[in-house]
Amino acid sequence: MPELPLTLQLDAGTYWLCTCGKSENFPYCNGAHKGSGFTPKQFELTAPATVEITAPGEAIVR
Ligand code: FES
Repeated sequence: MPELPLTLQLDAGTYWLCTCGKSENFPYCNGAHKGSGFTPKQFELTAPATVEITAPGEAIVR
């Protein structure tokens, strides 16, 4: 997991955020949570935006 907070420029769309911190594609879920009890968190953007990932699964639109 990269150092947080992580600032990203994202296009509009649906994203599945990793909440377990195990994804090799962090901050996005890659299925590595299987068996951990964690599930990915859906995150929607209706327009391109700057997004800050402050913790696994926690995104703030700036
Ligand atoms: S890999 Fe972390 S929630 Fe899916």
